[in-house]
Amino acid sequence: MLRPSALMLDFGGVSCISYSMRIFVIGGAGYIGSHVTRGLLDAGHQVCVYDNMSSGAKENIFPETRFIHGDILDYTTLLEAMREGWDAVVYLAALKAVGESMLYPEKYSVNNINGTVYILNAMCAAGVKYICFSSSAAVYGQPVRTPIDEEHPLNPENFYGFTKLEIERFLAWYERLKGLRYASLRYFNAAGYDTAGRVRGLERNPANLLPVIMETAAGIRPRLQIFGADYPTRDGTCIRDYIHVSDLAQAHLLALNFIREKDESLTVNLGSETGLSVREIVEASRRITGKPIPEEITARRPGDPAALTASAAKAKRLLGWKARYSDADTLISSTWNVYNL
Ligand code: UFG
Repeated sequence: MLRPSALMLDFGGVSCISYSMRIFVIGGAGYIGSHVTRGLLDAGHQVCVYDNMSSGAKENIFPETRFIHGDILDYTTLLEAMREGWDAVVYLAALKAVGESMLYPEKYSVNNINGTVYILNAMCAAGVKYICFSSSAAVYGQPVRTPIDEEHPLNPENFYGFTKLEIERFLAWYERLKGLRYASLRYFNAAGYDTAGRVRGLERNPANLLPVIMETAAGIRPRLQIFGADYPTRDGTCIRDYIHVSDLAQAHLLALNFIREKDESLTVNLGSETGLSVREIVEASRRITGKPIPEEITARRPGDPAALTASAAKAKRLLGWKARYSDADTLISSTWNVYNL
């Protein structure tokens, strides 16, 4: 059900035509989901956010969106919402704490795996063909080579990564058996906030590096723990590929256009292709915030690889996508803008 009005979009020099779509964003009130929703709205799409608000924030729901308070495990509500006539689903809702997934795999199985089955079955019942899924670099596990491309062996180290890989396999089977088309987007380390300050919801009890640093800078935490400074890296701390959420949002737009126009599915990495160490992020955060950010070096966190960086060549080649906001200063200053109250 494509609207006749075509919009010309400019993604950092790569122009493409986008048709206004009706998009059902599951998990659209969350940290990444709200940025993706913002990007979809900016591109002229109509959006309905479906979220159970377990980690979403009220202030992340934009007035232009329709909002349905619903759970992916509530099949009746999900199916009813799905039957409203959507062109595509964007599926971001998931439990995502790596450590917790190792302690409570039952919870992750039910929410991430059963939730996916309900979403896919509801899509089939309602005749929605396209889905953009938030996968993760966690599907690769310990890197056997870097940068990691999509052909890298898939060997998740934690249960969270296992659920993401299983979901990718469900998508491939539903493509084969039901004709569904999917984009599986393997995010590296999502970070940053909308540079125009339009997304302001904070994550509750964050465990990821940048929000923990920000909470320390803001005085919410006494100090940052650096999980190991004896890794074989340039300064002894772990290196990660941080990708700005607005860059992720643009990739969703391009991926939806791709699977619809080509009528084929897609699996791509989304990373900046730049490695930043924990220490580099901490030092840049001290400079940008002007705060001392006390730190202590603690033991390594189990399962942390020394260095993870992406090859995003496939996303560049197929989608014309390129990270534009993922330099350390933009990542940190856009996040501080929200934490510095
Ligand atoms: N770190 C600290 N102290 C903290 C938090 C993190 O030193 O308080 C370090 C970690 O040891 C790691 C780096 O900062 O070296 C980044 O850690 P995060 O927890 O922010 O992110 P991860 O690299 O562990 O994992 C993230 C997502 C996963 C995703 C993965 C893909 O949380 O969902 O990126 O690369 F799968």
